[in-house]
Amino acid sequence: MKTLITTLLLAAATIMYAGDFSFQYVSTKTCKMCHKSAKKGNQYGQWLETGHAKAMESLKTEAAAKIATEKGLEKPAYESGECLVCHVTGWGQEGGYQVLTDEFIADEANAKAVKKNDALASVGCEMCHGAGKGYKSKKIMTGIFDGTIKADSVGFMKSTEETCKTCHNEKSPNFKEFDFEASNAKVIHPYPEGFRK
Ligand code: HEC
Ligand code: HEC
Ligand code: HEC
Ligand code: HEC
Repeated sequence: MKTLITTLLLAAATIMYAGDFSFQYVSTKTCKMCHKSAKKGNQYGQWLETGHAKAMESLKTEAAAKIATEKGLEKPAYESGECLVCHVTGWGQEGGYQVLTDEFIADEANAKAVKKNDALASVGCEMCHGAGKGYKSKKIMTGIFDGTIKADSVGFMKSTEETCKTCHNEKSPNFKEFDFEASNAKVIHPYPEGFRK
């Protein structure tokens, strides 16, 4: 009996592990390739107009520096995990945003990695739709859209109020309140009327 329970627990742990860690972040630049045409609603362009696309810039302002000092952070806000966790894409996770050293940036051999990292700054698509490595191909995306591929199996998600609240909560130094309906209306980026569905 004990062995059976252990086996079941192990199986459950394996499933949880697969769900949480097996998909890597690929950056907003990747999503942009297929989601910028006006005909399909230009979700990239719509996102660019929101505060989410500027969340990194906000960590470089005087207001941010003041908060960092008050909190006694050792590094500037834009290099502190305490702030980056909600202001970038995939902080501390596979394929996610990292603080790069000046040496790393200066080395031309790293140009591609630096560009990808830049595209992971701010709150990118993947913070609401899931890390993209498992679903970024056209075939899989179409399968999700048509309902022939289960979103979970490839790490894709449709965000809900709970997704927003992973960042819009009292741990944010500026938090006042979060009204999902009103907030969502400001950041949604729908397909044009009548698009395929
Ligand atoms: C190679 C092209 C391609 C890339 C790259 C791509 N997508 Fe898509 N995506 C599609 C296609 C095709 C569809 C289906 C609808 C359509 O025809 O545009 C789709 C649909 C979606 C949908 C709607 C799903 C639904 O069921 O309503 C979301 C959300 C989405 N993509 C997010 C993303 C995100 C986030 C990324 C980056 C990690 C991304 N896509 C990268 C091609 C792509
Ligand atoms: C990964 C963290 C994160 C998630 C998830 C997130 N947000 Fe945000 N959101 C932020 C940050 C950080 C800002 C501040 C951006 C800035 O620097 O101005 C912000 C700002 C906003 C703003 C004000 C800026 C604007 O463009 O009007 C709205 C509205 C908003 N978010 C709505 C939402 C909604 C709705 C969801 C869920 C569907 C959501 N957010 C999910 C981190 C997040
Ligand atoms: C729990 C997630 C979270 C953490 C951690 C976080 N922020 Fe934010 N930050 C947000 C959200 C969400 C917003 C949008 C305002 C709101 O609804 O709280 C925001 C907004 C801001 C803004 C205002 C942007 C503007 O111009 O309106 C600044 C500045 C800022 N954060 C700095 C920081 C600093 C500095 C830290 C680290 C000490 C930090 N944040 C940590 C989620 C977070
Ligand atoms: C703050 C959270 C958030 C961010 C960031 C975000 N999305 Fe979305 N997205 C949503 C929500 C909420 C919906 C509507 C419900 C759903 O289908 O997930 C949506 C819907 C979509 C749809 C389907 C539109 C429709 O009418 O059904 C596409 C395509 C899409 N997003 C692509 C993107 C791309 C590409 C990016 C980055 C450039 C992005 N999203 C960034 C939350 C977000």
